[in-house]
Amino acid sequence: MQIVSSAAAMQRLAKKWQRAGTRIGFVPTMGYLHAGHISLVHEARRRVGKKGRVVVSIFVNPTQFGPKEDLANYPRDLKRDLQLCRAAGVDAVFTPGDAEIYPGRAEGRYSTYVVEETLSLGMEGVSRPTHFRGVTTVVAKLFNLVLPDVAVFGQKDFQQAAVIQRMVADLNFPLKVVVAPTLRESDGLAMSSRNKYLDPEQRAQATILFHALQAVSAAVKKKTVSAAQLQTDLKEFITAAPLARLDYVEFFDPETLAPVAKVKPGTQMALAVFFGKTRLIDNARL
Ligand code: PAJ
Repeated sequence: MQIVSSAAAMQRLAKKWQRAGTRIGFVPTMGYLHAGHISLVHEARRRVGKKGRVVVSIFVNPTQFGPKEDLANYPRDLKRDLQLCRAAGVDAVFTPGDAEIYPGRAEGRYSTYVVEETLSLGMEGVSRPTHFRGVTTVVAKLFNLVLPDVAVFGQKDFQQAAVIQRMVADLNFPLKVVVAPTLRESDGLAMSSRNKYLDPEQRAQATILFHALQAVSAAVKKKTVSAAQLQTDLKEFITAAPLARLDYVEFFDPETLAPVAKVKPGTQMALAVFFGKTRLIDNARL
């Protein structure tokens, strides 16, 4: 497994593979890898085959964190991440530093961003106004360095995957975006690097997100319900976890992300819940 930390070296390697006709599968991450990330690696391998190359990037992207968010505390464990990548059959791990990705940014000489202007506005975009600008910018840059044929993202970040699919279509990136299912702990909590922040009590109550998704799924199987009614009911439902504070719960069309008034099977539901300073998200097709 190669470990590449310079942007130029990553692009050279990708170009070499590309010239040889080797397919490149790519999984962008911020590290502190868990089984959910690794499931994306396996999906990338399935897509490019044994003869293809799978690249994982590990970069805690400063531009997608708000000024009051957890950038400095974001969990990191590169040694363990590299072991997990090696065991999963990754060919190259790209581990750039901030200055490789944002040359001159520390000196105020970085000024180009990629902005998606529709799908990124709701939900996460309301709670984290500059978040998706940072995500689209870094992912576009990573695509230019890794030159993937296939890039794999997790359904866990449903809105992120939708925004990236739109960016790829709008900006003619020559690659296929694959969205892979959410891996969960045995009690239903979606795996996330941020679960590490939870204390034991918060961790126990964090299953409330999954239970909310299940309860609404069951309810809409029986009859169509208004989104407004469900939003009221969910505020109440979440109080079963006294350490939880609901940030948002939305019901929307999975293609357009437009909010729906009537919730029925096939509607997408997404929610964000705070436990102390830790903010967890989850979503499901009902
Ligand atoms: P990160 O949170 O590290 O997630 C990397 C990828 O793993 C994303 O596509 C995410 O949706 C996926 N993922 C996270 N938890 C998962 C789970 N439980 N099951 C399956 N997939 C899961 O998302 C980011 O990093 C960043 O925004 C990034 C795209 C790398 C840009 O900086």
